[in-house]
Amino acid sequence: MNEPAGAKPTRFLRDYRAPAWRIDEVELDIDLDAAATIVHARLALRQEDAAAPLELDAEALELLELRVDGRMLDAGEFTQGEGRLVVHGARGPLVLESRVRIAPERNTALQGLYLSGTREHGFLLTQCEAEGFRRITPFLDRSDVLARYTVTLRAERARYPVLLANGNADGAGELDGGRHWARFVDPHPKPSYLFALVAGRLESIERAFVTAEGRRVRLVIHAEADAIARCGWAMQCVEHAMRWDEQRFGRCYDLDAFHVVATHDFTMGAMENKGLNIFNAKYLLADPVNATDDDHRHVLAVVGHEYFHNWSGNRVTCRDWFQLCLKEGLTVYREQEFESDLASRTLRRIEDVRLLWRAQFSEDAGPLAHPVRPDRYSEINNFYTATVYEKGAEIVRMLAVVLGRDGFRSGLDLYFARHDGHAATIEDFLAALGDANGVDLSPWLAWYEQAGTPQLRASGRHDAARRCYELTLEQHTAPTPGQPHKRALPIPVAVALFDRAGRALPLRLDGEAGGSATSERVLLLAADAATFRFVDVDEPPTPSLLRGFSAPVRLVQDTPPQALAAIARHESDGFNRWFASDALVRRLFAQALAHGEPDATLFSAWIGCVAGALDESGVDPALVAEMLTVADAGALADGLDEIDPEAVYQARTRVETGLALALAAPLARRHAALGDIDDLAVDPPTQARRRLRNACLAALCRADVAHAPLARAQYERARNLTDRLAALGALLSMRDATAGAALADFATRHAGDALVLDKWFALQAGEPDPRACDRVASLLAHPAFRWSNPNNVYALLGAFALRNPRAFHRADGDGYRLVADAIVRLDALTPQVAARLATAFGAWRRYEPVRRALMHRELERMLGRDRLSPDLADILGRSLAGD
Ligand code: BES
Ligand code: ZN
Repeated sequence: MNEPAGAKPTRFLRDYRAPAWRIDEVELDIDLDAAATIVHARLALRQEDAAAPLELDAEALELLELRVDGRMLDAGEFTQGEGRLVVHGARGPLVLESRVRIAPERNTALQGLYLSGTREHGFLLTQCEAEGFRRITPFLDRSDVLARYTVTLRAERARYPVLLANGNADGAGELDGGRHWARFVDPHPKPSYLFALVAGRLESIERAFVTAEGRRVRLVIHAEADAIARCGWAMQCVEHAMRWDEQRFGRCYDLDAFHVVATHDFTMGAMENKGLNIFNAKYLLADPVNATDDDHRHVLAVVGHEYFHNWSGNRVTCRDWFQLCLKEGLTVYREQEFESDLASRTLRRIEDVRLLWRAQFSEDAGPLAHPVRPDRYSEINNFYTATVYEKGAEIVRMLAVVLGRDGFRSGLDLYFARHDGHAATIEDFLAALGDANGVDLSPWLAWYEQAGTPQLRASGRHDAARRCYELTLEQHTAPTPGQPHKRALPIPVAVALFDRAGRALPLRLDGEAGGSATSERVLLLAADAATFRFVDVDEPPTPSLLRGFSAPVRLVQDTPPQALAAIARHESDGFNRWFASDALVRRLFAQALAHGEPDATLFSAWIGCVAGALDESGVDPALVAEMLTVADAGALADGLDEIDPEAVYQARTRVETGLALALAAPLARRHAALGDIDDLAVDPPTQARRRLRNACLAALCRADVAHAPLARAQYERARNLTDRLAALGALLSMRDATAGAALADFATRHAGDALVLDKWFALQAGEPDPRACDRVASLLAHPAFRWSNPNNVYALLGAFALRNPRAFHRADGDGYRLVADAIVRLDALTPQVAARLATAFGAWRRYEPVRRALMHRELERMLGRDRLSPDLADILGRSLAGD
């Protein structure tokens, strides 16, 4: 495939070569200033391949001086251009010194060193993953070059009183002219993408922590003055994360201080820089009045995630960016387990499966599909995807299930022991897990190498005469770009069988000896098809398949709907109950889409399960809330051959409204019974009750506008953001006469609070009404919206393009035009954000002909612009490939 104009050349995994030069020591001396920062670097370089020239990565740098072993080079001795700095005739070992000038305040890409906020009231910080360090100093900016860093920062004290870099503090002092300095030594060798510095007027909160190994650690969270009061929850989360990693995985922290910094200007969620994590404020700041319950859980998860990278990512890093899932898949898995242990396992699993369905399965079904470990890329920024993260975590989860908790733990111990201080590969990971357990895990490599969502077909047959139940499993994966033929994958399928009374049967496979039989078995489908025969089964059982979503596959089962309804009632496990209910929703949706109405019998079976959960005491309220929440349009459209977003919306609404109408009485009862909830508590049981109460409110308002007073009263009385936003959402969805006033009130109440206003933007942009398009267009001019701020862009344009299919796909194409214009504008500012928004057009071929043509036209129009960033050019090029 040829790259479109503007794209970088494609790199291939098969071309990987170990670095020809290595850097052992780095000394950085950085003179900070928003307009002009001077970076002096001293690199101790070693040559491993005598024939290899010395080529460094260097982007957006003004080179002032270059020296080798102290001698200044003149212009003929090096070449600079196209992102490279080549030193002619260099022979190692040598010491390379460079002096460069950079302009943080002009850096709108937010990669490298940049300014957060304004010059007067902002602070300086860095973002180096994946390839940002080359925008700070010339370097071998690749993850398999690990060096020890000593960093000295200098700056004007009044403007930059706080100076931070990775590692341990190693002195500080005054300089002439109101300036000061601080030095940091990081004893752990690290790749350049983990480098960070922060400088500015920041407040902090601090706690002391003693690790299980007895190390005393200062935990410090830094934020701007107006935000520091909202860091208490995050501090608790840091402490929980550190203790949990010790207890669950035996991993301790390894520096004298752990710093965390919040910024409002960040393209991603957060970043695991060694000892100096940097967070998007939306994943760090939380209190009940200004953040929702979901925000609190997200802070917990993201704080955990970045902290856990200290081992899965930093101590053991990736050999190259093809191996990104090595750190991200494993760390997402660890983060999922952390949240599951500390908050709600059921809720986290449901949310992960919903996300997988909505974002990953659809990615895997379109032109942007790629393996969890891609074998090629043009712009690596575009591979921080649902596939690498979510499917990557699912692979780790499958391995954990197959190896068992202890086996998985000893495998990880071996992985960390073998590769500590080094850069590793997926093969290394599988070898360590396999070696620790005496098994060959090489068949699992196929999960990393093969794109596409496997389809798992299951059919069961009861043989009364032989008292057995035969379960046949077959797998099939459709072709994806560049991969026409697919191999069979190892698929773990967790199974339970229920009898008519809803009891789980003891499971014994044919040929197995007697003894204690368990009620769940994990069958491993290793070939295209296999049949498993369970013995001593007297009556036709009801199978519960893929329990816990034991593999990231599309399950197609011949289970009759009544049996699914039975599972949704009898399953002992909350997730499996939801999963059965969700399977019913999908069938109902398919019927509504095909015939205008869902089948009445099936519908009442589903209502029966949800009503049962709603009335049954002892059921986790969060689970009930999830059963009341119909899968979103994106997830329901998965698997459709030709999507008509308006028809999808109508069919989904039929199902959703049908539920609300059928359950109006029990919903009202439960809503009333949940009246008394502590407004300011955020412990998981309280969150769960609030979640259910708001799910009831949403459903009641959907069923009948007569419930508007309930929502209005809740809006007026709300003391926390969860309840206020839920009420506002309900009013908006009913188009209640007071909705406009409530929206205005909300904006006034929270004026000046960027994170809360982002929710206000997102709520309006996400309203499933074609008019949302006009609303978004006018909100782009709102004073709180800034094009240069990724959070604003994702809140308004992201919610519209990626989460509001009905409005984005308006039949007149206005939604497409609005977003395409925005993408072009953003591309000149923050290419990473522009590229992410552009993925909204990726699945264009799956839409009905009119939309397909309109989307295609916008893709072509964007591609026709000159000066596209490599990020956007890559997404557009792949979206249109084969066209
Ligand atoms: N290492 C990433 C952050 C990152 C992503 C840096 C892309 C550069 C480019 C970090 O560990 C991460 O994965 N962050 C996630 C949040 C996480 C909880 C999944 C993010 O930023 O979305
Ligand atoms: Zn990560």
